[in-house]
Amino acid sequence: MIRKLFYATCLVSMALVCTAQRAMAESPEPQQAVVSHPNTSTAGADQFVGAETCETCHADVAKKFANNPHSRLALEHGGKGVTCESCHGPGKAHVDGGGDVTKIFQFSKASPRVADEKCLSCHAGTHPNFTHSAHGEANVGCQGCHSVHASTTEEHLLKASQPTLCYTCHTDIKPAFSQPFHHKVDEGLMSCSDCHNPHGSFNGTLQHPRTGLHQGVGGDWVCTKCHTETAGPFVYPHPPIQTEGCGGCHYPHGSPNPRLLTRANVNQLCLQCHTASMNFTAPGIPSFHNQANQYQACTVCHSQIHGSNSDFVFFK
Ligand code: HEC
Ligand code: HEC
Ligand code: HEC
Ligand code: HEC
Ligand code: HEC
Ligand code: HEC
Ligand code: HEC
Ligand code: HEC
Ligand code: HEC
Ligand code: HEC
Repeated sequence: MIRKLFYATCLVSMALVCTAQRAMAESPEPQQAVVSHPNTSTAGADQFVGAETCETCHADVAKKFANNPHSRLALEHGGKGVTCESCHGPGKAHVDGGGDVTKIFQFSKASPRVADEKCLSCHAGTHPNFTHSAHGEANVGCQGCHSVHASTTEEHLLKASQPTLCYTCHTDIKPAFSQPFHHKVDEGLMSCSDCHNPHGSFNGTLQHPRTGLHQGVGGDWVCTKCHTETAGPFVYPHPPIQTEGCGGCHYPHGSPNPRLLTRANVNQLCLQCHTASMNFTAPGIPSFHNQANQYQACTVCHSQIHGSNSDFVFFK
């Protein structure tokens, strides 16, 4: 499903561009942002005063900034270091006006779209889909999750660490991770962003096309990224994995049922699809398929439920 959705998106845009963008978006290596100075094209060099001048009045901000990834990481990675005016624009008029706030770019006063453009002038390379992501379109800008000067976490200038950050807006998602069976996100063993790219991606599901999922093995559901043994390809695949995805039988976040299954009883899950196609009481069909009799879990016998290379009914 995911694969189909992805290709559908690509056909609408341009396949090549799409693949290249996805490769960038999914790149495991953090790519170095391209440092450019957004306002140099419209403002002359004489409009810039340099960070030392800002420091004379904004000593507290400037002092903390030395340890900001925009100085530290950029220098470590061989870049030039991002200065105050790379983000706030040329500061001469602001300084000449004795700190005239109308003459400097104020992120707190700008609309998310306009503020994001500043950030994306350098970060579009790593986050090319942001504007069309669920967050970008809902006007949750970079500042919805990041704070350049007042980040409370060590990581990625986030306003709060995950999952707290995400729960502040997605309160409805929290209960799933308190279910008896759940991925260990609240315990800190896994993050929302292991599965979702908050900056958007081309991968969604049929029910939720805008979830911005990371890519799984071979374009399948994100799940196969970690549960590689379910990815196949199998000589005898179980078709619903292709047609419904992992969500055909599992809840991704949490479930009241073991193995994150969508049904409490495994047999009920199987019979959702198999009653119509199988006549369990017909002559010749093994009696243990007759659900009127005492029965065992289907998966006791059909144990390789995600697919098999040796048996067409998924026995061991
Ligand atoms: C002569 C002193 C002075 C210098 C130099 C100076 N500022 Fe300011 N700046 C101020 C004053 C005063 C204010 C308004 C009071 C406040 O909010 O801190 C201000 C406000 C700001 C604001 C808006 C704060 C807000 O509340 O949104 C920004 C952003 C800012 N300055 C950035 C800079 C940058 C970048 C530089 C260097 C290019 C710089 N300033 C240089 C005095 C100065
Ligand atoms: C990477 C972009 C970026 C750089 C570089 C940057 N700022 Fe900011 N600045 C912001 C954003 C975004 C805000 C809004 C508040 C936040 O996110 O922390 C802000 C807010 C401010 C404010 C308003 C007060 C506040 O904390 O809200 C001042 C003053 C300021 N910056 C000064 C500076 C100075 C001085 C420098 C250089 C030492 C600098 N900024 C470098 C992006 C940047
Ligand atoms: C919905 C929350 C959210 C929004 C909105 C958001 N980010 Fe992020 N960002 C995160 C989280 C969480 C991480 C750390 C996990 C990860 O890498 O995905 C991160 C990581 C990053 C990183 C470092 C790692 C990397 O992937 O390069 C950069 C740079 C970044 N964000 C820039 C931005 C910019 C620029 C914007 C706005 C265009 C933005 N972010 C909007 C949540 C968000
Ligand atoms: C002038 C270019 C430039 C602008 C504008 C800019 N950044 Fe960056 N940003 C960088 C560079 C360079 C780095 C360091 C990347 C590296 O070397 O790893 C960085 C790093 C980051 C990181 C990653 C921190 C980490 O721990 O990995 C985040 C998050 C981030 N920027 C967010 C923002 C946001 C939000 C804005 C807008 C308010 C913004 N940036 C504006 C160039 C820029
Ligand atoms: C500032 C509020 C805010 C924060 C913080 C936030 N989100 Fe969102 N998120 C939204 C809004 C608004 C939407 C779009 C409306 C909707 O679908 O709920 C959205 C949409 C989404 C969607 C798509 C929903 C769908 O129906 O397909 C996912 C997935 C998502 N966010 C995950 C995250 C993750 C993961 C984090 C933490 C890294 C996070 N969000 C942080 C506000 C936020
Ligand atoms: C193990 C992978 C995984 C993790 C971890 C994960 N998600 Fe999801 N999430 C998914 C998948 C897959 C879907 C799509 C489900 C579907 O379409 O049936 C989804 C759907 C969503 C949706 C949209 C559908 C809905 O239920 O409203 C939101 C919002 C969301 N996730 C937020 C989060 C947040 C917030 C976190 C962290 C607290 C998180 N997710 C952690 C895989 C994950
Ligand atoms: C980032 C890696 C990662 C991703 C992605 C991931 N999982 Fe998991 N999953 C785990 C880990 C680790 C465990 C075992 C620890 C635990 O209980 O959280 C687990 C446990 C499970 C279990 C329970 C296994 C058992 O023995 O009870 C099921 C079922 C499962 N995942 C299905 C999924 C599905 C479906 C998806 C996609 C929506 C998915 N996983 C995505 C890491 C991942
Ligand atoms: C047709 C229904 C169905 C689909 C679709 C499905 N699963 Fe399962 N899965 C099951 C059942 C049933 C079990 C429990 C098996 C048992 O009890 O022995 C299970 C067990 C698991 C487990 C626990 C370890 C194991 O192998 O027993 C993981 C992890 C898992 N599934 C991941 C996935 C992933 C990832 C996908 C998508 C690629 C997926 N499943 C698709 C039915 C399904
Ligand atoms: C979402 C629907 C769905 C669910 C749930 C489902 N299956 Fe299937 N299964 C199929 C389809 C479709 C086929 C392909 C054969 C067909 O069309 O009847 C198939 C094939 C099989 C086969 C191979 C035999 C054959 O005719 O190809 C076995 C064995 C099987 N399923 C067992 C199970 C068991 C056991 C469960 C529960 C753990 C289960 N299935 C859950 C849809 C499903
Ligand atoms: C005691 C072991 C056992 C249990 C329990 C069991 N099966 Fe089977 N199943 C078999 C055997 C044996 C076959 C026939 C294999 C063959 O034809 O070679 C079979 C065949 C099938 C087939 C293929 C039938 C066809 O028309 O080709 C499906 C589908 C199937 N089982 C589904 C289920 C479902 C659903 C359950 C649970 C309700 C279940 N089985 C429980 C042993 C079992």
